[in-house]
Amino acid sequence: MIALTTALVLSSISVALAGSPQGSLRQRHQQHARHVARSKTYTLTDKYQGGDFLDEDQWSYFTDADPTGGQVNFVPQSKATANGLAYVQDDGTTILAVDNKSDLAPGANRDSVRIQSTKTYNNGLFIADFWAMPHGCSVWPAWWSVGPNWPSAGEIDVIEGVNTNPTNQMTLHTGEGSGCTLVNTPPVSDAFTANVLGTQCTSSDGNNAGCAFLDTDNRTFGHGFNILGGGVYAHLWDNTGIKIWHFARDEIPSDIDEGNPDPTSWPTPRAFWAAEGCDISQNFFEHSLVLDTTLCGGFAGGNYPASGCPGTCEQAVANKTNFDFAQWKINYIAVYN
Ligand SMILES: *[C@@H]1O[C@H](CO)[C@@H](O)[C@H](O)[C@H]1NC(C)=O
Ligand SMILES: *[C@@H]1O[C@H](CO)[C@@H](O)[C@H](O)[C@H]1NC(C)=O
Ligand SMILES: *[C@@H]1O[C@H](CO)[C@@H](O)[C@H](O)[C@H]1NC(C)=O
Repeated sequence: MIALTTALVLSSISVALAGSPQGSLRQRHQQHARHVARSKTYTLTDKYQGGDFLDEDQWSYFTDADPTGGQVNFVPQSKATANGLAYVQDDGTTILAVDNKSDLAPGANRDSVRIQSTKTYNNGLFIADFWAMPHGCSVWPAWWSVGPNWPSAGEIDVIEGVNTNPTNQMTLHTGEGSGCTLVNTPPVSDAFTANVLGTQCTSSDGNNAGCAFLDTDNRTFGHGFNILGGGVYAHLWDNTGIKIWHFARDEIPSDIDEGNPDPTSWPTPRAFWAAEGCDISQNFFEHSLVLDTTLCGGFAGGNYPASGCPGTCEQAVANKTNFDFAQWKINYIAVYN
């Protein structure tokens, strides 16, 4: 009833406006504004795919102890290559794997890979097309970006989850005094589809929850993502905020496949941190892109008892059969500006 009345009022206004020169000017102006909003074009600045994907001038191999306390040895490029943990297939797919050939003593670390882009970013439209992501008992994969001197230059977690989780978690972390919050009131709360887990982004070593969303769609993580041939995670980081979209393989917008992405034509994002709650450029800068798989640690270990996985997380790490699906299979990662 309300909608019908509004429609009638609007149509009589536009009839009235159309009859006057002023009206047609305003209509032209509105059409122009819509046209401008739709046609911001993004230019490809970097595309990581196949061939030289794993060259060390593009991605460096992080080899320190896992800062999240994971039960892994992040290996250097030479070892990753020699042991088949990082390679490019003939079809151009890049594989990042966890060792699934070694049985270990309970408590020992398992070999894995963490790569970070040598190039850093201060904003952009990021398109990551994955055929598959790692999952399984004790497994904690992440696709994310982070600036220097954590957490003062921010962290954006696009894909993250643990063990048998059916859905994806998306999180921002910011430095002390940032005041950054996830705005969860209308109209912003109508502009994302995932559930809000927490609204305070400020993080520190002892308080690392961040401001986060948990998806409700079981195609967004792990087995549910992989059985559909994976898909695309796109995130837009600009002065309006940070938005994340997920598209299952058969729902990828054609403008993405055509290399001409137009986020204004996409559905409501899954996650949206509006700039109203956080000064984005002050709190997110000089980010390296990161892909890794760790095991147990604070997140996968802490959630292990509730995961439905057998035994303990340490026992799971010891058994190589748990890591046959602990692989990133990357089609490409593209960055537009
Ligand atoms: C995802 O949820 C749908 C609907 O509830 C269900 O039919 C499907 O089996 C689930 N997929 C997985 C991988 O659990
Ligand atoms: C490893 O896990 C598999 C599958 O759960 C099981 O059959 C096997 O006995 C385990 N191996 C060891 C050494 O515990
Ligand atoms: C390890 O994982 C790969 C990929 O899933 C699989 O092909 C292989 O059979 C697994 N086991 C060993 C012992 O390599």
